[in-house]
Order: sequence, then C-alpha cells, then structure tokens
Amino acid sequence: MATSPFIIVAIDGGAASGKSSSSRTLSDRFNLLHVDTGSFYRAITAEMLRRGVKADDLVAIKSALETIQLGTRVEGRSAQMEISGGVAGDEIRSREVNDHVSHFAAIPEVRTKLLAYQRRQAEVARQGDFRGLVMEGRDIGSVIFPQADFRFFLHADPAERARRRASEGGQDSIAERDRLDSSRKTSPLACPAGAVSIDTTHLTLPEVVETMSRLIEARLNAT
Ligand code: CDP
Ligand code: CDP
Repeated sequence: MATSPFIIVAIDGGAASGKSSSSRTLSDRFNLLHVDTGSFYRAITAEMLRRGVKADDLVAIKSALETIQLGTRVEGRSAQMEISGGVAGDEIRSREVNDHVSHFAAIPEVRTKLLAYQRRQAEVARQGDFRGLVMEGRDIGSVIFPQADFRFFLHADPAERARRRASEGGQDSIAERDRLDSSRKTSPLACPAGAVSIDTTHLTLPEVVETMSRLIEARLNAT
C-alpha cells in the first residue's frame, strides 16, 4: 500500500500579511501540524522580560538561554512551546512583548537556540500522525526548512496590513517590527529564492488559501 508523503509547508511574510490565518486553514485541510514560530519568539521574549533581562544585555541573555528548557505540547493541530513545562498565555500578545520581540529576535544566540527546536517540530508532527507540518515565520523557507516541499511568501501594502492589525484591536507598531526584521544581519525577513510570492493586499483569506491549496494538491496528486 502506498503511503502518502510527509510534507513541509513554509510560510513567511511580514506582520498581518495573513500567515497565521492561512496556516491554520491549511493545517485543517491537509491535517498538518501548525507551527507558529512567531509565538516561539514571543514566548522567549515574555520569559526574558519576566526575568528582567534586557535585549542589550548579551551576557544576561546567554545565561538565561542556558537555563531555559524547551518542550512542545500539541493542542489540537497546533504546536505550543513549553518553557520549563508551562505554556505561555495571552501575555505573548501584549504591548510590551510587541515592542520588544524584534529586538530579542535579532540576537543570533536567541535564533540559534530556536533553530534546532523549530526543526524538531517535524518529528513532533510525525509522532502525532500528522501528514506533515505548516510552519510560519520570517525565515522558514530560507533558513529553517530551505528544502520544504512548498515555500510561500506573503506580502501586502503596509497601509492594508496596519488596517488589518488595527481591526483586531491591541497596540502594535508593525512597521517598526518589519523594519527591524528586514534589516537584521541574522536571518532577515526576505522572500526566499524560489518561493511562491503572493500579494494578499486585494485578496480575501479564502482566495489566498485557495491559491496555496491548488499548488499543494497538484503536487500531491502527481506523487
Ligand atoms: O503575528 P505577527 O506577524 O505580527 O508576528 P509574529 O509572527 O508573532 O512574530 C513576532 C516577531 O517574532 C516578529 O516581528 C519577528 O521579530 C520575530 N520572528 C522572527 O524573527 N522569526 C520568525 N521565524 C518568526 C518571528
Ligand atoms: O500571521 P500574520 O500576522 O501574517 O497575519 P494574520 O494574523 O493571519 O492576519 C491578520 C488579520 O488580517 C486577520 O484578522 C486576518 O483575518 C486578516 N486578513 C485579511 O483580512 N485578508 C487577508 N488576505 C489575510 C488576512
């Protein structure tokens, strides 16, 4: 009996480009483990802030990273990061975390800590009998899984993205985060060579998901 291949879908893009919404829908449609790597950077940032560690104090950051134990809890189809056995709550979406996350995410030691952890999510997906995983972030198709079966890069006009984020409530300077994410030296936000680039400015979410699904189905049907 033929076994269906394990697939990896990488989705990158700036804030409010539609990564999380489209990833969740693909996860449901194709039974993929959904991995929101932004939530990982947010959880690490919340932990650093809780410990009083500042983003410009590399010595304190390194020492904190040595003591942070990472695990994964699968809730539904979603991979949640555990820090010392606990899963962070709504505080990872707070104004304070919004303001600091891109500063911590620019630090090479933080990214190194998360590199192997993110790749291990493929094992978590295999053990959980998922058909594959859909991982979203800023450097998934470029650094974490450059050999992913499908690599998408979502983008949209800054004004449209600001409108989307504002309509969700909360306070977030997404233009400033995008600037920091795109200009950092380690793993900057950029469309990876060979990725499918989708401008979502004038597309509805179902239209974006349809474009992605058609490409995934076409390849799956061909194997
Ligand atoms: O939801 P939104 O797109 O606004 O942000 P997020 O995906 O939750 O990511 C929060 C922050 O984490 C980003 O602004 C980046 O600084 C960082 N991040 C990253 O550097 N690399 C990733 N793969 C994912 C997130
Ligand atoms: O994960 P990311 O920050 O890239 O974006 P998201 O959380 O998926 O989307 C941000 C908001 O924009 C959500 O409320 C989506 O429903 C909305 N959205 C939209 O209106 N049209 C799209 N084509 C994509 C997202």
